[in-house]
Amino acid sequence: MFGKKKPIPQIDKEQLQLIENAQRRIKQKKRLYFHFVIFLIGAIFLIILNTVLGVGEMTKIFGIDWFVFAILAWLFLFVFHLFNVFITHKFMGKDWEEAQLTKLVAKQKARIESLQAEVEKMHPVTTPSVTASPVTAPVTPEKKTKVHKNLTLIVAAGENDAIGKDNKLIWHLSDDLKRFKTLTSDHCIIMGRKTFETFPKPLPNRTHIVITRQPNYSVPDGVIVVHNLEDALDAARNDVQPFIIGGGEIYRQAMPYADKIELTRVHENFVADTFFPKIDTSEWVETENKFHQKDDKHPHSFSFITYQRR
Ligand SMILES: NC(=O)c1ccc[n+]([C@@H]2O[C@H](COP(=O)([O-])OP(=O)(O)OC[C@H]3O[C@@H](n4cnc5c(N)ncnc54)[C@H](OP(=O)(O)O)[C@@H]3O)[C@@H](O)[C@H]2O)c1
Repeated sequence: MFGKKKPIPQIDKEQLQLIENAQRRIKQKKRLYFHFVIFLIGAIFLIILNTVLGVGEMTKIFGIDWFVFAILAWLFLFVFHLFNVFITHKFMGKDWEEAQLTKLVAKQKARIESLQAEVEKMHPVTTPSVTASPVTAPVTPEKKTKVHKNLTLIVAAGENDAIGKDNKLIWHLSDDLKRFKTLTSDHCIIMGRKTFETFPKPLPNRTHIVITRQPNYSVPDGVIVVHNLEDALDAARNDVQPFIIGGGEIYRQAMPYADKIELTRVHENFVADTFFPKIDTSEWVETENKFHQKDDKHPHSFSFITYQRR
C-alpha cells in the first residue's frame, strides 16, 4: 500500500552554517586587505604632505617629523586589525564558541548518563519470573504506571509474526486497510522513521508522530518529529486513544506501555525481515476475534483479534 516517499531536497543546516562562516571570513579578510592598501597610500600621502608640500614642516616631536608618529599610530591600528582577524576571530570567533558549546553539551550528557547509571544501580528493575506464583511475583507498581490507558498497538502479522520485508508490507488486504483507517482516523499515529518513509504522503485526518534519532529529519508540515518513545507518548497525551502503528522496532519498545492490541492475524507463514513481538498471553487476554475468509480481494484469510492487557 505504501510507495516510496520522494526525497525532500534540502541543504543541511550544518553545511549552511559552514558556508555562512566562510563568507564572513572572506569579508573580514577583504576589509583587512583594503585597510592595508589605504594605509600604504595614506602613509605616502602623509610623507609627501610633510616633506614635499611642507605642511607642518616645523612641527617635530623629540626632533622627529610629525608624520612618523602619525604613520606609527596608523600602523598600530592596522596591527590591531590584523590581530583581530587572524587571532581573536580565529580562536574566539563563532567556530570557537560552537566548539566550546559542543564540549559543554557532551560533558552534561556524560554527567546525566552517569547519574542514570547510579540510579539504576541503586534501584534495579526486576522482571518477575513467569513460573513464580502471583503472590511472590506481583506486577510491580513501576510496570503498572508505565502502561498508558488506551494506548493501542495496531498491526497485521502472519502466523509467524512476520510484518514486513524490504521496508514494505508483505500483503495487500483491502478490508484490513479499511479497518486501519476507521480505527485510527482522528487519532495520533506514532511510528518509526522507516514506517513513515513507506507512506507516499501523510495519511489524512491523523496526527503523525515520527520517531527518529536524526536531529534534522525533514518532514512535511503538520508531522511531529520526536527523538524517543517517551516524547512521542507525551506528544499524544491529549488523544483518548493514540495508536502505535509500527514498525518492528517501535512495536517492541512500545509493547510494555500499551493497553490494547488490534491485531490482524494473517493465516499464513511469510518470509520476512521484520516481526511483531510475541504476545504473552499471561499479560494479554483476547477479547474479540472475527474471522475473514480468503476471497477475490483478499489472497489470504485473516482474523481481526483484539487483546486487552490483563
Ligand atoms: N504489518 C504491519 O502492520 C506493519 C506496520 C508498520 C510497519 N510495518 C513494516 O515494518 C517495517 C519497518 O519496521 P522497522 O522495525 O524496520 O522500522 P521502524 O520501527 O518503522 O523504524 C525504525 C526507526 O525508528 C527510529 N527509532 C527506533 N527506535 C528509536 C528510539 N528509541 N529513539 C529514536 N528513534 C528511534 C530509528 O530511526 P532513524 O534511523 O531515523 O534514527 C529507526 O531506524 C517495514 O517493512 C514496514 O512495512 C508493518
